[in-house]
Order: sequence, then C-alpha cells, then structure tokens
Amino acid sequence: MAAERAHWGSKLGFVLAATGSAVGLGNIWGFPYMTGQNGGGVFILVYLLAVALIGLPIMMAEILIGRTAQKSPVGAYRELSAPRSPWIGVGWVGVLAAFIILSYYSVIAGWSMHFLWLSVTDGFVLANETEQAARESREAIAGLHGEVAGNPEVSTLWHIVFMVIVVGIVAAGIKGGIELCTKVLMPALFGLMIILAIWALTTDGAGLGVKFILGIHDAELLEYLDERPAFTANSALAAVGQAFFSLSLGMGALITYGSYLRRNDDIVGTSVVITVLDVSVALIAAFVIFPIVFLAGLQPTDGPGLVFSTLPVAFAEMPGGMVLAPLFFFLLSVAAITSGISLLEVATSYFIDERGWTRIKAALFAGGVILLLGIPSAVSASSTLFGTGFANFLGSIFGEAGEMSWFDAFVYLTYNLMLPIGGLGIALFAAWRLGDAARREAFTT
Ligand code: TRP
Repeated sequence: MAAERAHWGSKLGFVLAATGSAVGLGNIWGFPYMTGQNGGGVFILVYLLAVALIGLPIMMAEILIGRTAQKSPVGAYRELSAPRSPWIGVGWVGVLAAFIILSYYSVIAGWSMHFLWLSVTDGFVLANETEQAARESREAIAGLHGEVAGNPEVSTLWHIVFMVIVVGIVAAGIKGGIELCTKVLMPALFGLMIILAIWALTTDGAGLGVKFILGIHDAELLEYLDERPAFTANSALAAVGQAFFSLSLGMGALITYGSYLRRNDDIVGTSVVITVLDVSVALIAAFVIFPIVFLAGLQPTDGPGLVFSTLPVAFAEMPGGMVLAPLFFFLLSVAAITSGISLLEVATSYFIDERGWTRIKAALFAGGVILLLGIPSAVSASSTLFGTGFANFLGSIFGEAGEMSWFDAFVYLTYNLMLPIGGLGIALFAAWRLGDAARREAFTT
C-alpha cells in the first residue's frame, strides 16, 4: 500500500489550514455581492440560519468522513461503503466542483492582485479642488474594476499568476507555509477589516448601509435604490450556497483536510471555531462595503465587481488610505491563496490517492486544466463570450432570464447547485453509511 500518510504538524495546523481555506474571497467578495443582489437583510438572516443549521453539521460530517477514512473524497467514499458503490459519485462531483470553482476563483483572486498593483503604482487618489471634481474622481475610482474586468489580457495575466502560485505551493506539499500564512496574516486581515468597518460606519453612507444590512426598507432607502430589494426562491438557494461556499463545504475540501488529521483529533470544537471566525469576517465585510456603496453613489445590486468598486473609493477618502490599500489587497490576495490551495488540494489528492501519481505531476496537471478552464471566465467576466446566443442559452439552462456570461454560469452552477447537492450527499452519507461507532467517535476525542 501507499506510504505513511502525511499529517498536520500540530493540532493548530488543521485549524489554521481549515480557517485559511474558509476565509477568503467568499467572505469579502462573495458575501457582500450576493447580499446586495438578493435583498439585503433577509438574505443575511437566511444565510446565518443556513450556517448554523446546515453548514456546521455538514462541516463536522466532512471532517469526520475524512478523519475516519484517512483518504481524499473519492477514496473515502469507497473505503467507507463498497468498491462500486454509487456513493463514490458524490466524491466525483466534489472533484469536478473543485475544478470549476477554482477556475473562476482564480480570476477574482487575480483582480485583487491587480488592485494590489494599482494601489502601489497609481494609488487611489481623490481630486478635491471642487465638489464636482471630487465626485468625478470618485466615479473614476469606482469604475476601475470595470476597466479591469473588461480587459481580457489583464484578467488573464493575473489569473495565470495566481494559478502558478497556488500550483507551486500545492506541489510542494500540504505544510508548505499555509500554517504560517494563516497564523500571521489572517489576524492582520481581520484587524484591518475592523478598522475599515469603523471608518465606514462614520461616513455619510453609514445610515443607509446599516439599514440595508438590517433589512429596514424605509422611504429614505427606497428613494435611493434603483430597485426594491427582493428576496426570491433563488435567493434562498444562494444563501445556502453562500454558507457552503464560505465554509468550504459541499465538495470534500474538508474531507481532504480531515484525512490529514490523526484519528483522535478534535472535530466539534474545531468546527465551531472555524465557523465563528468565518462568519465574523463575512459580517464585518458587509459593514465595510454597504456604507461605502451609498457613500460612493453605487447600487447594492452591482454584482461581482462590488468590492472592487467600493473599497478603492474608501481608501481614497480615508486617512492613511495610501498605506492601507496595498496592505489590504495584499492580505486579500493571501487569503485567496490559502483558499485556492484547499480547492487545488482536492483535485490533486484525487490523482495522488486514486491514480498513484506523484504530487508534482498531479498538481501540475490539475492546475493546468483549471488554468485553461478559467480563461473563458477571465475573458468574459464583464461581457458575453461566444456571442449573445450562447449567453442566452446559459441564461436559459440556469433558469435566469436573459444573458449569462461563462463566469456567471460557473458561479451559479457551483454556488446554487453543486455545493448544496454535494452537501446533501455528504449529510446522507454521514447519516446512513457511516457506522454508529464512527459517529460516536466524532464526539469523543
Ligand atoms: N471558502 C473559500 C472562500 O470563502 C472558498 C473555498 C475554498 C471553497 N475551498 C472551497 C468553496 C471548497 C467551496 C468548497 O473564499
């Protein structure tokens, strides 16, 4: 059989890696934009319920499956059921989801690295000679993201840079620096987010921003908004998807990380810690972004570019913004890397465990495929690729009226469909196939 399985260096190692996986673009990019597009306050409430009632138990189930089987998803399902069991299909869906998610995750991570670059080279500077000049330069800064997303070369270049970094780290092995990054840089990101929130809550946008977050749709808020906030059936699905995405659940990332745990490592306490940290970052991000949305004259429904159009405006306006901007985009890029690693680890460990490939070959192959899969997202994030006919086709299969870009379609497919379905599979598996003994073991460490 295979060589002795590598395990985490210390008890803290797993917590750090799992937190590093959870905290990422999903919290700071995804949560505010999904909240903005799905009606605000109600979405946040449903998301919190989904985290507590669905996410947390599934997190424990995933870690338990991995710790029990000591294998990555596909192998774990086989080991704990039967050689040809249909449950193995749940593992397969997870591996597929890893490819698709990382392909667009990398594009967003690339934007944050580009903004790091912009913040160092140009800075985000507000003209303040006249009221008019200030307003115009604020609009220009808020529009920077559109220029980036609408520039296929720039988006593709940074997508490649990000993938090269992530592949390099995964090829070097599971302990290659993730623990250190998380231990030092995550608290820094957390602290910086709190500073940003405090500042945002003292600006003119604070009142409307907080009302939007709390779901108080009074006349003043409605007067400002182009459309009434709406929470639809799809929004409920998106809230569940957001809970899964943000906690890195539903595709086996935590089965994989759990498989590097020793059999007597703690599961329940660890899961609670990871969940609380992750949700806090998302909520703080909302308190940063929404006040600035209203301050900068933007709409909450603006979509995937929301963080990138709001935060530069904040940095341009706030004291010390010149220094905080590069720091923030650096830390956000690192957070994206530690999350990207967990996605690539699922794909890589499949080829290592199931095909007997070396880690380097597996990481290079999976990374290469993901790189190619992401190029249409990098090119199409702000436009429709392959013509409007194709975009309408994507829109129609994913049940949304009108056009959908390759990027939007991948986000929808994974957030609203693959992760919730994968999560259901994991829950059913843990309930039906995992023996009572294994389940009891989860609560006795
Ligand atoms: N949780 C990460 C974030 O919020 C993204 C992520 C990493 C992820 N690994 C995952 C999402 C596995 C789903 C499944 O940015």
